[in-house]
Amino acid sequence: MTKPRMGLLGLGTMGSALALNIAENAEPLAVFNRTTSKTDAFMAHTRKHAPDLAERITPTTSLEDFVAAMESPRAIILMVPAGQPVDDQIDALRPLLNPEDLIIDAGNANFHDTNRRAEAAATQGVPFLGIGVSGGEEGARFGPSIMGGGPKRAWDQVEGALRSIAASYEGTPCATWMGEGGAGHFVKAVHNGIEYADMQMIAEVYGVFRDGLQWTAEQCGEVFAKWNEGPLQSYLIEISGKVADAVDPESGKPMLDVILDRAGQKGTGRWTVIEAQHLGAPIPVIEAAVTARNVSSRLPLRQRGEDVFGAAPVGLTTDILSVETLEGAMIAGKIMCYAQGFDLLNAASKTFGWSLPMPEVARVWREGCIIRSSMLNDMASALTDHPEDNLIFAPFFRDLVKHHSPALRHTVATALSHGLAVPALSSALTWFDMVRTGRSTANMIQGQRDFFGAHGFERVDRDGQGFHGPWGSA
Ligand code: 6PG
Repeated sequence: MTKPRMGLLGLGTMGSALALNIAENAEPLAVFNRTTSKTDAFMAHTRKHAPDLAERITPTTSLEDFVAAMESPRAIILMVPAGQPVDDQIDALRPLLNPEDLIIDAGNANFHDTNRRAEAAATQGVPFLGIGVSGGEEGARFGPSIMGGGPKRAWDQVEGALRSIAASYEGTPCATWMGEGGAGHFVKAVHNGIEYADMQMIAEVYGVFRDGLQWTAEQCGEVFAKWNEGPLQSYLIEISGKVADAVDPESGKPMLDVILDRAGQKGTGRWTVIEAQHLGAPIPVIEAAVTARNVSSRLPLRQRGEDVFGAAPVGLTTDILSVETLEGAMIAGKIMCYAQGFDLLNAASKTFGWSLPMPEVARVWREGCIIRSSMLNDMASALTDHPEDNLIFAPFFRDLVKHHSPALRHTVATALSHGLAVPALSSALTWFDMVRTGRSTANMIQGQRDFFGAHGFERVDRDGQGFHGPWGSA
């Protein structure tokens, strides 16, 4: 039997699922995990449930055996936790490899780390790719969305294999090279930021249902299931319906009612927000979503707040805020969120010299990934026609925004007046009102800056900069 050329290191949940996907849809591979018992368990499980695939997988027990089990040029996928473990594995592997052997970091790396690793690899003259892989365990097993970054030649070497394991949208594989260095991981970070925002907006609407309208989880599930058949069709709406419908086998209560309201996070949403601030590309809907997760984690603070100030006054009815209005608000909020996300990608692309293929980003997100939705296909079309323009100005989305922004306004105003926090939806509305205001209030900021710091300002009636006000003589 000829030796495999591919290898996968790290047999956690995602790594195991990806290994099976590669064995089934791409090519035979060698696998290695630092803890051998994990490799044994993975192989035993695979032999039992998928013997055909087990035959295409070579398990190894040391890094040396792992490398020796493959033919050069090798392509080794790292599926280890982001951060130092990736550096440790690269340092351990590189001396064992040939110069043409490719290392691929397929974890959720910070793109700065990927840039640094890509530069180090380029200096050594060895290939390295950083690829963003989305879709959770199921995606990894049956077809993720893949956002590649690194030297194009290295991408070309594995593109066929990656496209054959990726999800596909109407026959087009969702695996695309985004650009040099950390471009793929940057696109993945923005994906995750949008993921946070999509999830948060759904949670906010769930809050309106639960706390405002006093609905049961089951009632919420019915609406999400219905919305999943309309313009909001998406994986996240679909699973929200399923989550709302589920019953806890232990207590017999709705599962949602026994899940503690403290959201976890691994940090990718926060990275997106930090980069957006560095780049001066506002993404307030994503910021609100990250902030909301942080506030959620302050459980004692919130409980004390409720004791001291009392819970929000509610008493909402569907006469005041209809389900249709909430659906419209979600549509408008989603468009604002993606408009901000793509704007951030454009800013990053220019600043980092990546030439990110905007329509391809939308295309690669149409299937496999967590934020997949029917709207992404329309976004891909809009970005094909206007790759650098803000999405809200593309005719299709401009019309949707005109049609649904009143619903967003009514939803936010009603929720706020009933004491229901809707931070992401409010941020979407506020951003919309800011970008539709030709004459903002920043003239006051400029006046203040000039007053206390002589920073100078521009005038509306003359060209040039560095004008000053009459403060000295005031
Ligand atoms: C994906 C997800 C995934 C992410 C988890 C958890 O695209 O498959 O984005 O990569 O790690 O969803 O993220 P948080 O723990 O930050 O919520």
